[in-house]
Amino acid sequence: TLAGCGGGQATQEKKQGNEGGKQKIVVGTDAAYAPFEYVEEGTGKIVGFDAELMQAIGEAVGLEVEMKNIGWDGLIPGLKSGSVDAVISAMTITEERAKEVSFSDSYFKAVQYIAIREGAPYSKPEDLVGKKIGVQLNTTGHFAAEKIPGVNKADIRTFDTTPAALTELVNGGVEAVVADSPVVLEFIKKNPNAKVTYFDPKFPQEDNYGIAVKKENTELLNKINEGLKKVKESGKYDELYKKYFGV
Ligand code: ARG
Repeated sequence: TLAGCGGGQATQEKKQGNEGGKQKIVVGTDAAYAPFEYVEEGTGKIVGFDAELMQAIGEAVGLEVEMKNIGWDGLIPGLKSGSVDAVISAMTITEERAKEVSFSDSYFKAVQYIAIREGAPYSKPEDLVGKKIGVQLNTTGHFAAEKIPGVNKADIRTFDTTPAALTELVNGGVEAVVADSPVVLEFIKKNPNAKVTYFDPKFPQEDNYGIAVKKENTELLNKINEGLKKVKESGKYDELYKKYFGV
């Protein structure tokens, strides 16, 4: 990933490179998260539900959107430093994060699933006590795993990306992975030979994804919310939903 790179001031570039055209915004993401954001083979383009939704929002309110792959841990720091103007990365709106950045209206709902190898004798969170659990660092899956009663922090193995955690599950290095439901389902669909399955632990918390901007940037936040509303009203949102989730 390009975490730590691109420390340039997105906001300044935007103001300078704006001769008579649309205002340009740089939008950060961790593009290892199909079907929300991933790098398309061959073209190297960042594609997925989030990427297309962000483009549609931009079109609806006259913003030029440039997506930038900077890795999960660089996203909130990137907003704070100004190297990105916004973040769309299947990021759950949490109280902790909302202290650091501002979130748009929710654009997607998910829950946490527990991915396991087919035939493994686990059917509820408590079955994982004493087992190695994989998570992507600082995600809601990570936080949920830590809250399973009896689970030791020392048994939680953190990875920089969710696919890395799922690969470790396939390889037998961890017994389970806690991650967002649509991403677990997509992995199973795309990797039938990996023999991964899942169960729904029915954690009390639900994930509501939001687009994040720098704390004080209400101007951009309002535009994004306006764009999201338009994209929902026009039917574009449903079109993208159908394309990526098939319903
Ligand atoms: N929804 C989860 C969270 O906010 C995981 C998101 C991870 N996104 C990504 N592009 N890697 O913690």
